[in-house]
Amino acid sequence: MRDSKVARAYEALVAEGAIIDDAAQRKAVAALDTFGARLAHALAAKSRLRQMLRLPPRKGMGEGVYLTGRVGRGKTMLMDLFFKTVETAKKRRVHHGEFMEEIHGRIHALRAGKHGADAISTVAEGIAEEARLLCLDEFQVNDITDAMLLGRLFKAVMQRGTFVVFSTNTEPDKLYEDGLNRQLFLPFIAFIKQRFTIIELSGGTDYRLRRIAGGEAYITPLGERADQHIERLWQKLTDGEPGRESELMVNGRVLRVPRAAHGAARFQFAELCEEALGTADYLALARLFDTLFVENVPLLNGKRRDARRRMITLIDTLYDGQIRLAMSAAAAPEALASGESDFERTASRLRHMQSVEYWQREGVSS
Ligand SMILES: Nc1ncnc2c1ncn2[C@@H]1O[C@H](COP(=O)(O)OP(=O)(O)OP(=O)(O)O)[C@@H](O)[C@H]1O
Ligand SMILES: [Mg+2]
Repeated sequence: MRDSKVARAYEALVAEGAIIDDAAQRKAVAALDTFGARLAHALAAKSRLRQMLRLPPRKGMGEGVYLTGRVGRGKTMLMDLFFKTVETAKKRRVHHGEFMEEIHGRIHALRAGKHGADAISTVAEGIAEEARLLCLDEFQVNDITDAMLLGRLFKAVMQRGTFVVFSTNTEPDKLYEDGLNRQLFLPFIAFIKQRFTIIELSGGTDYRLRRIAGGEAYITPLGERADQHIERLWQKLTDGEPGRESELMVNGRVLRVPRAAHGAARFQFAELCEEALGTADYLALARLFDTLFVENVPLLNGKRRDARRRMITLIDTLYDGQIRLAMSAAAAPEALASGESDFERTASRLRHMQSVEYWQREGVSS
């Protein structure tokens, strides 16, 4: 009989009314059940001879699932649901960022102890020993160090029989896109495509976004109430994650993003429009994020000409890219730069950008 633990867990949530039955998620659930059955088989595999000799079971090559899709589609939820159904004490579920920090730490400690080039395989051995199932949430490749490390690490971990699940926003072919020396990373992409079951959550619903009503995203006047409102909106859109600082390279310069999580980035107005930023920076943000938070936008008429110009460019760029904008401002769009004719189009766009239709549209970036 086919085991369908994940399907049963999913159905229970639907029956409780905790989640909405989603066809794309159902498909992913079925694939996870197949994967789960193979893992269960691998966990149970013990040869009689090895048992008699009290040797640990010989482990075959581990398998993988690559769970991908745009933000809010339910990747993490399904991964966690799957994780719960797996019956072994040797399982581990960890955020990619935290995992990589640990890996760097372990490698560093070994190198200090003169293990040299073998450090990665020694670390992989340890990881595989501790977990037959390793679930990594928000898998991504940030920099050249990780790009060069990940392939060797995961190949070695899986060769030791560990099964791996990645949840990620990035499809395999786009991993480490535009990265330095990317050709050295391509074998890992080939490995993923060959060894992993790629499950795409392609449903049209961003379940986080569903929690936002239209007109909620522009708050005025400034003050504590506005700050709290923006904070609540941020929490809804990121499931309570404070967000991590990150850096983008734009034309050879670093653009600092103070807080980023789940496709959203959060800035103070001053950080975006009172610094020497321009179209290239705003385009980079529009390419990378679905939603931008801009807090504490002051009145922009009169002397604030440079900041106003930048704000105009910013809004044009976001609007063209259909990026969502959440904003706290000193006044309503029309009153933000009254008397300044260059701001009229921006004010009208800011209005449109608050509509339910604009907020709930199908996302364009991934
Ligand atoms: N079918 C559903 N019905 C209702 N809510 C859902 C459903 N699927 C997911 N959710 C909820 O929507 C939110 C987003 O889901 P989840 O965090 O799993 O998305 P994700 O694909 O991991 O997003 P990200 O790429 O940003 O990490 C969660 O709070 C989750 O509980
Ligand atoms: Mg997630």
